[in-house]
Amino acid sequence: MKIAIIGCGSIANAAHIPAYIKNEIAQIKYFCDIIPERAGAAVEKYGYGIAVSDYHEILADDEVEAVSVCTPNNVHSIIAIDCLRAGKHVLCEKPAARTYDEALEMQRVQQETGKVLNIGVVNRFNDGVNHIKKYIDDGKLGEVFHVYISFRAHRSIPGLGGAFTTKAIAGGGALIDWGVHFLDIVMYCCGDPSPLTVSGETFCKLGKNMHDYTYKDMWAGPPNYDGIYDVDDSVTGMIRTQGPVITLNGAWAQNIGKGEMYIDFMGDKAGIRLQYGSDFEVFTAENGALVSYKPEFNMRNHFENEINAFIDCIQSGEKLPSNIDTVVITAKVLQAIYDSAQQHKEITL
Ligand SMILES: NC(=O)c1ccc[n+]([C@@H]2O[C@H](COP(=O)([O-])OP(=O)(O)OC[C@H]3O[C@@H](n4cnc5c(N)ncnc54)[C@H](O)[C@@H]3O)[C@@H](O)[C@H]2O)c1
Repeated sequence: MKIAIIGCGSIANAAHIPAYIKNEIAQIKYFCDIIPERAGAAVEKYGYGIAVSDYHEILADDEVEAVSVCTPNNVHSIIAIDCLRAGKHVLCEKPAARTYDEALEMQRVQQETGKVLNIGVVNRFNDGVNHIKKYIDDGKLGEVFHVYISFRAHRSIPGLGGAFTTKAIAGGGALIDWGVHFLDIVMYCCGDPSPLTVSGETFCKLGKNMHDYTYKDMWAGPPNYDGIYDVDDSVTGMIRTQGPVITLNGAWAQNIGKGEMYIDFMGDKAGIRLQYGSDFEVFTAENGALVSYKPEFNMRNHFENEINAFIDCIQSGEKLPSNIDTVVITAKVLQAIYDSAQQHKEITL
């Protein structure tokens, strides 16, 4: 199956390309990047493929069945839609798009074309997350009435003044970039419950005066002090759903000393703390004693799981849990948090 990679930056090189290379059915035909040297470097590094700088060149090639969209958020929607209309199946990186409206348009075109449109909510292919989902589905936690999400770093703003901190490109900051993963895990594990009301506040504080921002490391850097910084570097919120109430506290940068990246699923029989990207611990009471344990399991590479599932679903027609219909629910919640923060009031969905 011939594949095209659109956007040859960090996530393409770290995750998508190696996973396609390991897949026995997929074969990458094109590496595309608007910076021609990046497409060229990929061809050189991996030793095959055609380098192009305009993704429209790929659309005309009927041999290409599927594409990975690994570009910044501002062009997710337009590229995914153009690819779907050209008859390609699409795996588009997270977040689906900058806004709920853009995500809905992607969903509309997916329905119109009937092609696969999955979003890179890769945690749905994480073995630990799937163990937690099974615990909840099997009733081991009882009623999960509250989930608390913490995705907070001490000082970890990415690429100050670049694509990540420019709202017109990214659509938002810590919430849309990190929060999307955490919220998606909760929605997935809790059966994608319908959101009812959303209240949130976002803050653009620690990076606002770019020259005053002190840090040790900067991913997606270095800083561009002539660039733009107009996104949330921290966020708090509460979402009532038909399932649990979800509360969140997230930040690329908060003066908290040590980062905290975890999700607490709180049930009336048991609770689970998931350390993001790692293992989880179960807390309960048995026979009058407090009990906790850490299940041990084989943790496969979740990007490989995601890409393998993408290729398989194209062949089988199976709808994956990362399809656009489930992801638009999270897009709606993210939009509502931003809208609530702007209006300083609760949003009813
Ligand atoms: N799933 C995850 O855990 C995860 C992790 C990191 C990034 N991401 C997502 O992946 C996307 C890319 O992030 P990144 O860190 O790789 O960024 P990046 O800047 O390293 O790479 C993006 C690449 O896209 C190219 N590009 C931009 N516009 C293009 C266009 N119109 N056509 C072709 N190429 C174009 C850029 O030149 C750049 O090389 C973002 O949406 C980000 O949110 C997801």
